[in-house]
Formats: sequence, structure tokens, C-alpha cells
Amino acid sequence: MSSSGGDPAVGHVAIIMDGNGRWAEQRGLPRSKGHEAGERALFDVVEGALEAGLRYLSVYAFSTENWTRPSDEVEFLLNFNRALLRKRRDDMNERGVRIRRIGRREPVPREVLDEFDQAEAFTAHHTRLDLMVCFNYGGRAEIEDAAKQGSIQDNLYAPDVPDVDLIIRTSGERRLSNFLLWQSAYAELYFTDMLWPDFDRHSLFEALRDYSGRQRRYGGLG
Ligand code: FPP
Repeated sequence: MSSSGGDPAVGHVAIIMDGNGRWAEQRGLPRSKGHEAGERALFDVVEGALEAGLRYLSVYAFSTENWTRPSDEVEFLLNFNRALLRKRRDDMNERGVRIRRIGRREPVPREVLDEFDQAEAFTAHHTRLDLMVCFNYGGRAEIEDAAKQGSIQDNLYAPDVPDVDLIIRTSGERRLSNFLLWQSAYAELYFTDMLWPDFDRHSLFEALRDYSGRQRRYGGLG
């Protein structure tokens, strides 16, 4: 962790993949097509994260608030995530990516949790890149759940994972939306107007270049 500014270390990038629905609507397509296009973007970004040597990549796949969407979209997203894990698991495994889910288990359907559990067990031995899939995840829920156990830091969903260095959010929205609140206390923020399906590894590299010019002081003087 560098506090001197200029080329700060980056180990953990967290992404709010926003704008799939708008991307589809702009093309006169159903929202589900936007999520499918978002899948391609995500896996190109995973390749980019490997190229860039990141150690942790967290992605907001489904939030505790996403249950309030129309039930057909909720159902689509649950099945979509499940299918995507099955489809990409071998690929991730070959690349040395460890898949980890964080978030509350309730009320995620059993078959979706099973798919996550299997992907996690299958890739558990990898140490190159941890892909943290935040699913039925909410930052406040995480802090509440941890507080019930005692020390918050020690009882986060993945206490071994270091704080977030850089948060990326696409689609022009400039808010955190309950994402990794505790871990992002000193994160640098990067917002782009690009919609998530248009984002790719080169967009990630651009965000990392921007980050490399930031001065991180952690409340000190640097
Ligand atoms: C936001 O777009 C995106 C989502 C709600 C889902 C994104 C999920 C993925 C790309 C798959 C990740 C899954 C795994 C298992 C790694 P939006 O619907 O909020 O778009 P809008 O704001 O334009 O409506």
C-alpha cells in the first residue's frame, strides 16, 4: 500500500457493472439481451485483470435491492448467473481464477447456491486472481451480519480480502449503491459514461492509468 502518491499499488478493483438495461433499450432489444452482452464484457475484463496482474476483482452481480425488480427480470438474472457460472467455470479454472461468492445465502434459490458452491470448490486452489462475485450482496447487510459476530473487520464475508483500491462504475451514475461499503473506505472512485456492455479490458486499462495518477493519502499528508 503506497501512501506517497504516484503509481499507487493496485491489488483490488471492484466494479459496479451498470447500464445493461439501457444498452439493450437503446437498441430496441429486451433487457435480457443487455445482460447477455454484459457477460461478454465481464469476461473480457477478467482477461484484462489477469493481464494487468490484479489479485482481486469484485463484481456486483446481484444486490440485496435487486429483488425489487419485476419478478421476470429477477428470475432471468438468477438463471442467467447460474448458467454463466456453469459455462465459464472451466475457462476460469484453466486461467487460474478462483471464483468466490459473497453475500447472504437467504433467499437465493438452492440450485443457484449449489452452482456457486460447486464453482467455488472447483477453483478453490487458485491464487492468481480471486473473482469475488457479490451476489445477493449489500454493504449494510454485510456490516450488520458481521456486527452480530463481534469485530466487523474479522467477520466480513471474506475477511482475508484486502480493502478495495479502485471502484469503477459505468453508465454515468455516480454513487456506491451499497457496494463494499466497509472495504471501500479509502477507495479511489472512477466513473465512466460507458454502458457496461461496451466496457472491455482496454476500458479497464484506461481506468488503471487514471488511478495510477492519483495520490492516496489515507487521511495523512502523503
Ligand atoms: C446492471 O445493469 C447489471 C446487472 C444487474 C447484472 C450484471 C451481471 C452480470 C454481467 C453477470 C455477473 C455474474 C457472475 C456470476 C460473475 P442494469 O440492469 O441495472 O442496467 P440499467 O441501469 O441500464 O437498467
